[in-house]
Formats: sequence, C-alpha cells, structure tokens
Amino acid sequence: MVGEDFENRCASLLEELGLARRDEIISVVPLTGGVASDIAKIETENGDYCVKFALEKLRVKEEWHAPVHRNAAEYAWLEVASEMALGYFPKLFGRSTVENGFVMEFVSGDDVFVWKDALMDRGPVEGEAGTVARLLAGVHQRSARAGFDRRAFDNAADFSALRLEPYLRFVGGIHTGVADTLNEMADDLFAAQTVLVHGDVSPKNILFRDGAPVLLDAECATMGCASFDVAFCLNHLLLKGVHTPEHARPYLSEVSDFVSTYLKAVDWEDVAALSRRIAHLLPMLMLARVDGKSPVEYLDEAQRARVRAFSLHIIAHPEDTLDGLFSRLTKAITS
Ligand SMILES: Nc1ncnc2c1ncn2[C@@H]1O[C@H](COP(=O)(O)OP(=O)(O)O)[C@@H](O)[C@H]1O
Ligand SMILES: [Mg+2]
Repeated sequence: MVGEDFENRCASLLEELGLARRDEIISVVPLTGGVASDIAKIETENGDYCVKFALEKLRVKEEWHAPVHRNAAEYAWLEVASEMALGYFPKLFGRSTVENGFVMEFVSGDDVFVWKDALMDRGPVEGEAGTVARLLAGVHQRSARAGFDRRAFDNAADFSALRLEPYLRFVGGIHTGVADTLNEMADDLFAAQTVLVHGDVSPKNILFRDGAPVLLDAECATMGCASFDVAFCLNHLLLKGVHTPEHARPYLSEVSDFVSTYLKAVDWEDVAALSRRIAHLLPMLMLARVDGKSPVEYLDEAQRARVRAFSLHIIAHPEDTLDGLFSRLTKAITS
C-alpha cells in the first residue's frame, strides 16, 4: 500500500523536474530492501522512473537519525561515477532540494537481477565478485587523481553518522574491551580523504545487468579511505558464507578473487598499508553486523554467536596481512 502523502511527494518531484504531470502518473510501486530511504518505481505515460527520497529516521530497531541532504551526495556520486565511464549506471533526470529527492532511470530487463537475491538463492558464481572489485577499484583510482572535483563529497560528518557511529563506536559501547581499537579505527576513517568512498557496497545495492554490476545507493558517499568499501563488501560475502555452510568455500574463493582483482588496480597508495587497514577493519565490520545498529537478518543465534566470538578474537589479536586474515577466517568459517 502506498500512502497518499508519498504519492503526492512523488508527483510533486516529477512535476518540479518537468518529467510528468500528476494526471500522467499511472502507478507508484515502493521498492523494498532499504532502511534509509523512500524509493519507488513510478510508471507514467512518458515512461518509467525510479524516485528516491532520504529518510531522516532510519527504519531500524535502534534510534538512528541521519541528515536528509545525503540524497545530494548520492546523486553526485551517480553523476561522477557515470562520467568515469566504468560501467552502466542509471540515467539521471534531476534532483530537488525542496523534496530532498531525485529521479533516475528504473533499471529493468530480463537480464537484470539484484545480486543479493541471486546470492541467497543460488550461492556465489565464480567471477561475479571480481567484476564488482574492478568497478570499485576504478572509482577509487580515478577519484584519487589530482584534479578530481571533491566538492560534493566533503561528507565526513554524514559518513560518521551513517557508518562510523552505528558500525564502530556503538559496538565499542557494547564490547568495551575492544572499544579503544574500534574508536581509533573510526577516528582514522573519519580523517582520511584519499578516495571517493561509496559507503554501502553491499550485494543488495548491486544490480547485475547483462552480466555486469550496476552499483546503486551511494548516500554515504564521502572522500575517505578505500579500505572501508573493500572491507564492507567482503563482510557481506563472508557472512553469507557463514549463513550457508555449503557455500562457505566458494564465498571464500570469491573473497580472494575480489581482493586480488582490487589490489592489482591500487596505484594511489601503498598496497601493503591499505591491505593492513582492510585486514584490521574487516573483523570489526563483521562484529558490527552482529551487534551494531544494522544487524544482519539472515544469521541464526548460533551463527551470530560464532561471528561474535571469532571477530572479537581477531580484533584483539589482529592480522596485518589479508592472507593471514583469510587463513584464520577460513578456519573459523569452515570448521
Ligand atoms: N534505478 C533503479 N532501478 C531499478 N531498481 C532500483 C533502482 N534503484 C534502486 N533499485 C532497487 O531498489 C532497492 C532499494 O534501493 P536503494 O537505492 O538501495 O535504497 P535504500 O537506500 O532504501 O537501500 C535496490 O536494492 C534495488 O533493488
Ligand atoms: Mg540499499
């Protein structure tokens, strides 16, 4: 059911941007999956659109507020990523500062699927993670170059509210023994300005279209540290491996593939230092998906307890290399 308010808001947005009049709207169908926005497919007499508005209060159990102007960061991310010509991105039709919403192409077709749905359905398929790594590395690499226009991405405060607080500092409040380590990591990530971080590289924000990834939902976009996007995405793959033990090894192998593809493209900073940061951050994010403000919905209690135990142990006794980390994670996940 779509509320009348929401329908009106969509109609105002399309009207303001000159895309459709109210009487040309045929249907408004909300899209599910996210906790941070109102998003819908709108069918009009002029064609289909996808509209997206940022929510001030996120739909999670814990209190979690975030500024709605992050919708501008998301739009700007889509604009620059499209300009980088690294793959397919939805066409953009404009943004309203009055409504804090924007309109983009509704990406559809027989060959389009949400990566998360496919992973949950049939497990990982060899090579898919590598294509995501290549796309992500491309954005990071180009944004690290001199001359990249960073003005739309001076968003450390929003990134802090949406990512550092709920995933790291909040968890430090629960697991006080590792609080200093988590807070130090949050401080470092807050200070970093090296690349354009997407901030939500999760399979539910990736469509595959014609075999290639389409990365969406960049509302946390900021100049920051590349390790965040890499660790964030790897975390999703690893937790799915915990969830479906029969796919654990294929997930681990996709994780290795992701990392080797990604690291090959790193020419903007020291690879060993970046790998170390990823290796330190990844177990923190694993813990965050169990005890943070955005807990993973598909792990059962026993699986959550396992993730909690091994992540806490690794955070307290960290690995400095990704090989070292993956060999411990392989033992933890497959035994
Ligand atoms: N341009 C688009 N075309 C087709 N589907 C989309 C588009 N944008 C988002 N979606 C679908 O809607 C879901 C939610 O969108 P997303 O931008 O991730 O919003 P949220 O911030 O609420 O997570 C996505 O997982 C995807 O399945
Ligand atoms: Mg999303």
